[in-house]
Amino acid sequence: MRKGLTKKQRFLNACNRLPVDKTPVWIMRQAGRFMSAYRKKRQAHSFIEMCKEPEIAAEVTLLPVQRLDVDAAIIFADILLPLEGMGVGFGFTTHDGPVIHNPIRTANQVNKLIIPQPEESLGYVLTAIKLVKQELGSDTPLIGFSGAPFTLASYLIEGGHSQNYLLTKTMMLNATDTWHALMDKLSKIVLLYLGSQIKAGADVVQLFDSWAGCLSPSDYEKYVMPYNRTILSGLKKYKVPVINFATNNAGLLELMSKSGGDVIGVDWRISLDKAWKQIGYNKAIQGNLDPAVLFASPSEIKKHVKSILKMAGRHNGHIFNLGHGVLPTTPEPNVKALVDFVHELSEK
Ligand code: CP3
Repeated sequence: MRKGLTKKQRFLNACNRLPVDKTPVWIMRQAGRFMSAYRKKRQAHSFIEMCKEPEIAAEVTLLPVQRLDVDAAIIFADILLPLEGMGVGFGFTTHDGPVIHNPIRTANQVNKLIIPQPEESLGYVLTAIKLVKQELGSDTPLIGFSGAPFTLASYLIEGGHSQNYLLTKTMMLNATDTWHALMDKLSKIVLLYLGSQIKAGADVVQLFDSWAGCLSPSDYEKYVMPYNRTILSGLKKYKVPVINFATNNAGLLELMSKSGGDVIGVDWRISLDKAWKQIGYNKAIQGNLDPAVLFASPSEIKKHVKSILKMAGRHNGHIFNLGHGVLPTTPEPNVKALVDFVHELSEK
């Protein structure tokens, strides 16, 4: 086994299914509210302000690297930021999360959506990426990300978070041409955006199709997969690893694997060994601790880590993560303990 890799070598090796000295670990939503330093910064600024001010975004991106010893940084931003350049206004409310001011529900509205140049409409994210890269140097990798077309479409159509995605699914099934026009535009936007993040310095990118797990496999295959495929194959030319993530995706793993990406992200509703078998060992896997486990005692967390590492077995290509974002009220010391357990228990 290879000893003493940098975090970047460890992370990229895992993405490419090469041997590592220990399992790399990072945490979805690691730059967020469970950290007291984040909450402190947040008192003086709104969330959107923090995203749009590259120096603040860069500083927040670095917090978990400095305090938790994670193996990768993820740029502090949000999947909804591209909406502004598309001509769609939105905001964040304290309790209900994101709100889209004029939800997109007609063909006419879809036609009017702009395909923005990310260098113009999202220049602040790209500047933040460059600032973070200067700080990280060549030792720690930076992950860029975007929402995937389905997940973005669900926010655009529903106007916010949704229980059943009824408006989204109804457009998909009843106004299929409008659906395809919307997904086509979104996939162009996402491909441009991820490409621009890579050009700005992102070492890896993750496609968050967070809500795709609400679909039947056949609807996913017909109405969503072609667009993810376009994005994932379009990114190949940049030669950086791509993580393809969805929650609740136990029924979609084979299709997600077929749509592409180097790493498939899975949540805790399926055991990691079963998930990897379905995905195929020709791809790396990311996951999959239940975020709620971080509210248990350190000894219980340790048991869960051991069990997941055991399920990954001797295969190369496991990136440890939660199955979904870390919850805002998670005790901070437990997150640090998790990172340390992963490193300690997986050391070769
Ligand atoms: O992972 C990271 O640390 C990077 C930053 C990041 C954020 N959002 C910051 C954020 C990432 C990768 C996201 C992705 C994101 N945003 C997703 C996909 C990931 C997932 O969880 O499935 C989604 C669906 C969103 C949309 C979004 N943004 C919601 C639903 C909310 C509010 C929900 C909540 O938790 O309150 C946000 C706000 C948001 N995005 C915050 C942060 C740190 C909280 C803002 C604050 O009040 O400080």
